[in-house]
Amino acid sequence: GAPVEADIGKLAPGEMMTVEWRGKPVWILRRTDEMLASLDKTDAVVSDPLSDKSIQPDYAKNKHRSIKPEYLVTVGICTHLGCSPSERLKPGAESGLGADWAGGFLCPCHGSLFDLAGRVYSSMPAPTNLDVPPHQYLADTTLLIG
Ligand code: FES
Repeated sequence: GAPVEADIGKLAPGEMMTVEWRGKPVWILRRTDEMLASLDKTDAVVSDPLSDKSIQPDYAKNKHRSIKPEYLVTVGICTHLGCSPSERLKPGAESGLGADWAGGFLCPCHGSLFDLAGRVYSSMPAPTNLDVPPHQYLADTTLLIG
């Protein structure tokens, strides 16, 4: 499939958009400082914090799983059996996932939880973190995926 361009200029902090690439949803999440700080908390509860077993380009093999910490770019397909996780971006009880929830994603099929870097929590059905697709910045607000 051909690479896909995404204009992220209108994405506000805390917002997410989806583009389609090779028939898959690719999420682009603009993380706030609070969202980035939540990754310090989830470091201890995810199964592959440094993404050693997970799929991403080398430039996204870091704690933020991204080129620029602010922007997460990830394939929105659960690494268990391919369902599409839903957004549970907000922390706390309002999420329905308990007061300790740090924000992230919930797979509706078998309950895998992912943090705001797409890292899977420990002891979940999903074996690895969400995939990060190849991508690059053509300009400050233009991403090329693929
Ligand atoms: Fe997501 Fe099974 S497909 S937990």
